[in-house]
Formats: sequence, C-alpha cells, structure tokens
Amino acid sequence: MSQTSLSAPLPESLPAAGSAARLREALLAAAFTADGLLDLLGAPAYSALARGETVPALRATRADGALSALVRVFLLQESVPADRLAGVLPVDLCVADRWLVREGREGDVLRASVDVRPYGGDEGQDWFIVSDLGRAVGGAGGIGTRQEGVVLGVGGASTTLAGITVRTPVGSALDLGTGSGIQALHAAQHAVRVTATDLNPRALDFTRLTLALSGAAEAELVEGSLFEPVGERTYDLVVSNPPFVISPGARLTYRDGGMSGDDLCRTLVQGTGARLNEGGYAQFLANWEHVEGEDWKDRIRAWVPRGCDAWIVQREVQDITQYAELWLRDGGDHRSDPAEYAARYEAWLDEFEARKTVGVGFGWITLRKSAAAWDEPSVVVEEWPHPVEQPLGDVIRQHFELQDYLRAHDDAALLAGHFVLADEVVQEQIGAPGTEDPEYVVLRQHRGMRRATRVDTVGAGFAGVSDGALSAGQILDAIAQLLGEDGVVLRDRTPEAIRGLVGEGFLLPR
Ligand SMILES: C[S@@+](CC[C@H](N)C(=O)[O-])C[C@H]1O[C@@H](n2cnc3c(N)ncnc32)[C@H](O)[C@@H]1O
Repeated sequence: MSQTSLSAPLPESLPAAGSAARLREALLAAAFTADGLLDLLGAPAYSALARGETVPALRATRADGALSALVRVFLLQESVPADRLAGVLPVDLCVADRWLVREGREGDVLRASVDVRPYGGDEGQDWFIVSDLGRAVGGAGGIGTRQEGVVLGVGGASTTLAGITVRTPVGSALDLGTGSGIQALHAAQHAVRVTATDLNPRALDFTRLTLALSGAAEAELVEGSLFEPVGERTYDLVVSNPPFVISPGARLTYRDGGMSGDDLCRTLVQGTGARLNEGGYAQFLANWEHVEGEDWKDRIRAWVPRGCDAWIVQREVQDITQYAELWLRDGGDHRSDPAEYAARYEAWLDEFEARKTVGVGFGWITLRKSAAAWDEPSVVVEEWPHPVEQPLGDVIRQHFELQDYLRAHDDAALLAGHFVLADEVVQEQIGAPGTEDPEYVVLRQHRGMRRATRVDTVGAGFAGVSDGALSAGQILDAIAQLLGEDGVVLRDRTPEAIRGLVGEGFLLPR
C-alpha cells in the first residue's frame, strides 16, 4: 500500500457528478461522516488527521470494516484491495465515473482519484468536501506542493470565513474564488441562487462535486478572474477567501493573486461596492501591507467603497520574515535545495524592501451596502487578536444594526433610549492583590468577540442597572445623585461612553 506523492501529476479528468447521489448514500450508510470518523479514530487521531498527520489514523484503521476501508481510500490515499470495498461502495460505478482507479495487474486494488472528506454543517448536516488528493489540509498548515492548479480542501481560513459569514436568508450569493466549494456549500443553505467563480476551471469541477456529494442544490459555476465572470450583476451576499498572499510573483493559483502587494485584496474590496444590493453583505479574508510611514488603518480604510459601511478586524500581524517563511514553507520551499530556498527567501525580502513593507496584517473585512452610508459611512477598523467564539455571523450582523442605531440617534435621543446589558457580560475588578479598591474595572463578554473594555465608576454603574426599565438619562440622574455629581455634566459627558459600549455590543438598545 502506497501513499500518493504530493508531486504526482494532478488527474486530468475529475469524477462525474452524476453518480454523486449513489456515492453519498453508500458513504452515509457506512457512517463516513464527521461523527463516524471521530468514533472510529478517537479524538487524538481525528485531530492529527486535521493537522495533516496520517500515522495515527493508519493505525486506527488496520482492522477490517467498511468505515476503515473508506478512511483508507479517501482520506489516507491508500490503495485498498477491491474486495474490501466491494460491499461498501458501488465499485464499478465509482470506477466508471472516475472516483476510484483500478490498480494492480488484475485491477484488484483500488485507489481514490480525489480526496473526499466528511465535513459537518452548522446544523449537523453530513457534507463532503472533494479536493485534490493529499491537499485536504491547506493554507498555513503547509501544503508543500508546487503544482500550480492544485485545488485545496478545507483549511483554517476556509472555516474562519464560513464562521464569520452573515447567514441571513438571501436571494443571491456569490462565492468568488470558490476552490473546492466550501463557501458555496454553506451559502446554498440560505441563498436561493448561488454563483461560484474561480480562475481555475478545476476548482469549478471540484465545487460541483462537493455540492452534489453533499446533497446541496447546484450552483451556477463561472470561470474567470475577480468580477469579470459576473459583469455588472449584483448580489445580496458576496464571500471570498481570495488568493491574498503577498508574494514576489504568482506561482500557486490558490494563494498568489498575481498582483503586486495587497492590490488583489484592494481591487476585490473596492470592486464589491457596485456588486452589492442594498443591505447586502460582502465578507473577505485578506492580507494588507503595513508600510513604513503609513498608518495601516488609513490604508485599509481607503479601500472601503462609497455607499458601504465596513467593519475591518485585524487578527494578526507578522513581520516580513515570519510572513515569508510561512509561505515558503506552505509552498514546500523549505524542502528544496538550500541555495534555491535562500534565493526565494531573498526575492521575498527584496519585494518587501522595494515596497517599504514592514509587516503584513491578516484579518476580516465585512462591507454592508447601505443608503445611509453615502452620507455618513460607519467604518470601524480595529485590531482584535484575542480568541473569539465562532460562529460570528450573528455578531457581525448585530454590529451593523448597532451602528445603524447609533447613526440614527443623536445624544439627546440616546439619553432617551433604554438599554439592556448583553448576555454573559461580567465585571472584573483589576488591581494589586490585597488592595481594597480596584485600580480599574473591566467589562468582559463571554460570548462572540469576547471583548473586554475598561470602564469608570459611572460606566460600571450604568452597565449594572441597564435592564431596560429606565432610560439612559434617568439612570445617569440616579448615578449623579448617588455620587454627588452634577447631573447635567454627567448627561453631557457620558453619551460618548454609552456609544462605545453600544458600538461594541456590551449594551443593546431595548
Ligand atoms: C484560498 S483559495 C479559497 C478556496 C475556498 N473558497 C475556501 O474558502 O477554502 C482561493 C481561490 O481563489 C482562486 N483564484 C485565484 N485567483 C483568482 C482570481 N483572480 N479570480 C478568481 N478566483 C481566483 C483560486 O483558484 C482558489 O480556488
């Protein structure tokens, strides 16, 4: 039994989607699902597999059994005796439709032509992601391939984008740069029509297989770069995990956009304004350059198209050496000849030096088309590198609703408003151990973005009594009395703090 080499040529013709329904039935019957795998492999081997480590799963699937045979053939790229698969899969059909390839002198051994990986939907759906062999773990995990048109499976970036996507039912959704189709698959659950595009025609074939094998509705699949395949059409939702890597020259279609610096991400964000319907969301993962002498927030704020509100969250910044090493490793360059590796590393640093790039930010960009944004756009650009609780789609939708509220309420209206403290916000007193009074007080969210924010006595008191019964002004009057402060002064200076707490989701309008 041999594992398929990562440098083996990519199959020229992919499986036919017509047999996907039969194959799905057989896979489900054998419990080839996310839960089934966890049961069979156990948590450590299951997690190791998600990290691209196959040895524990190989050990766990030595014994006979339908599920073991499927794991071996589809996940571990092992050649499996045909008789082990005979009662499990419609073998002849799978061979005729190129899911499986016969090997051995008698054709008595089978191997998979593609990677088929169970993937659990948000509501427990049993889905499958079909991708090129051996590339099911992507991105920063170190895919180690030099094959230009390779189509990866689900990586950390894919699930991050799926988690932050606003899942309101919509008429139309566009998945730009669909790859093996994970975003299109999610979108198919809440969009009437899904369009998936990719520069790489193989990706569209994989997306068709992913949707069919997952039992999802078909999507419109269109080949081409950025918005070119969809022209002037507009959508209620646009999602893209684009080839955002900033690299000296394009090599790998799945990650290198082929434009200089962060131009691909900028072009994508700027071009989306005209492709969104009123109220529609566009959500991207992106990299952006930190350029000497320039505030990164100004750089990215300038990308936001007119007529859109935006929320941009920088999750991570890497210096240029960390960044170059990450993507050199991803492309397998660390395994190449040392001189070649050094030359590629040097090229990366040359490029950054020429562009005066000192670091690279990674994060999430959400745009929402809004009539109010033409006059008074809400553009929040922030750094939040701390752990969050996914899925965040509802939190992101709520962020924009809260910005709408703030935009529509001047300070007088805010003071007349009633607020409730969001669920699972706690107060923490921070100070040196043993001292009586805290140095400062922090409100912390236990859900969603898991934000923490420092508040003064008035802010803490205000949050504490915000149960929606009294208006903000009435609460401030009561606090003023309690603290012996001037109520007018307090009403004058507190709205800004209340705006901050509402904008970050600590306080919600009743
Ligand atoms: C990082 S992968 C993302 C795949 C998938 N959407 C996901 O979330 O895992 C980027 C995809 O964009 C495609 N792509 C690269 N350049 C493109 C371009 N100029 N226009 C459209 N798609 C492009 C690649 O072929 C690849 O499938």
